[in-house]
Amino acid sequence: MSSENANNISILNANRQDVADEESVRQLEYIEKAKAQVSFMEKELGRKLKACVVTFGCQMNARDSEKLLATLKLVGYEETESEDADFVIYNTCTVRDNADQRVLGRLGQCSNFKKNNPYMKIAICGCMMQEKSAVDKIKKSYRFVDLIFGTHNIYKFAELLYQSLNSDKMIIDIWKETDKIVEDLPVLRKYSFKSGVNIMFGCNNFCTYCIVPYVRGRERSRSPKDIIRECEKLAKDGVKEIMLLGQNVNSYGNDFEDGNPDKISFAQLIDEVTKVEGIERVRFMTPHPKDFSDELIDVIANNKKIARHIHLPLQSGNTEILRRMNRKYTKDDFLNLVNKIRTKLPDVAITTDIIVGFPGETKEDVDDTIDVVKKSAFDNAFTFIYSKRSGTPAATFEDQVPENVVKENFDRLLKVVQETAKEQSLKYEGQVQEVLVESVNDHDDSLMTGRMSNNTLVHFPGGVDLIGEMVKVKITECHGFYFFGEKVE
Ligand code: SAH
Ligand code: SF4
Ligand code: F3S
Repeated sequence: MSSENANNISILNANRQDVADEESVRQLEYIEKAKAQVSFMEKELGRKLKACVVTFGCQMNARDSEKLLATLKLVGYEETESEDADFVIYNTCTVRDNADQRVLGRLGQCSNFKKNNPYMKIAICGCMMQEKSAVDKIKKSYRFVDLIFGTHNIYKFAELLYQSLNSDKMIIDIWKETDKIVEDLPVLRKYSFKSGVNIMFGCNNFCTYCIVPYVRGRERSRSPKDIIRECEKLAKDGVKEIMLLGQNVNSYGNDFEDGNPDKISFAQLIDEVTKVEGIERVRFMTPHPKDFSDELIDVIANNKKIARHIHLPLQSGNTEILRRMNRKYTKDDFLNLVNKIRTKLPDVAITTDIIVGFPGETKEDVDDTIDVVKKSAFDNAFTFIYSKRSGTPAATFEDQVPENVVKENFDRLLKVVQETAKEQSLKYEGQVQEVLVESVNDHDDSLMTGRMSNNTLVHFPGGVDLIGEMVKVKITECHGFYFFGEKVE
């Protein structure tokens, strides 16, 4: 079913017999053609060729990068972390302006490597490439780029790679949208024991600040059969933890027609995934508060394989700001939902995302957000400064908030977020938790680092043989966002 890489992680869907989708078979043929090309270049250079995949952005982009890397490895490239390589691909994010700036900075530096390596190819793909202005900028000021493609045709990477290896020109292939989902693409995951699994692509919500619906297109759900089949392949390959991925997982299946047997709810889907033999823990990212059903709460309550963590993005605690963000819930709706979750699922950690500085936001509006943070007692919160994305409705709103006011509000909010998170984390001290061991500790190699069901990290004495194992750890010390513990037999 698979071919192995240096870390003993298999490339899934590397062979024709494992691949049902016609388009994937076509791409495997391009992999063969590109492989011949790379082998020829190897002989010319007298060494193996190296490829580097650089990922910006969310779990969805990270999963896409695992597909890019699988194709590059099958074609014959060795993986490297260094951009001084023979093939470098930037998988971009454009959710905030600083993500754009980071990519362009890295891209500029990469051109220096190309000056010394005539065989080098530089590619750029992902969400930022779905914006015409970004592609225009690259065409004008980054002429050394060899290949540009977007989010909708990433499945064609093998074909585009082959074309690029045979051309001196800049190849650009961007699609406005797609209704296609290509199954069974080769994929090489980063970790042997855990994996993301896309359940849907795109977003229909059009929150007024957000670029994602424009760069990822409309919601398209994968069929439950395809999702379960992928989970079964992963489980057979040693995966114990799965994260179901989508921009709004609770609207899973809404795009299937009534009467279609594939039309099941997200709650039913997650329950099915936990039944896959070998899967011990299932997470999901991200649910939208407006669609969080009682059915889902009940399924989580009754199914201990579902992680004790819900990431529930608040964005703002002020009802009028939420209305202008097009979030479709009020401050009270959100608080009621959190109350319901805390009552029915007392052992679940709740984390959130918050934006500060949305157009028109006043100090009093931020007070509302702070009030929600205190009342919800979030276990953690990611706080972002509003970033104006051209093409989104909010970019044209008047009364954009001055930077110094945003900064002041941001600092005020952050202080409260840190206080509530610290308080919440204290409750874990003394508890015994199931921990999936992920790696050797970065700073002390006598310690192992694992992830608790609530998604926080715990460090404890142990050996490398524990990596990928689910072990019981007693939490001894709380350090805010991480813990120390001891393995119990
Ligand atoms: N689909 C997910 C999140 C996608 S983007 C959801 O609905 O929650 C991840 C986070 O980035 C968002 O939750 C939001 O807090 C933040 N974000 C999105 N657009 C932003 C913008 N223009 N400026 C600042 N933060 C933004
Ligand atoms: Fe963006 Fe809103 Fe869709 Fe999340 S739900 S991706 S914030 S538009
Ligand atoms: Fe960024 Fe695209 Fe994800 S814009 S957050 S990488 S969907």
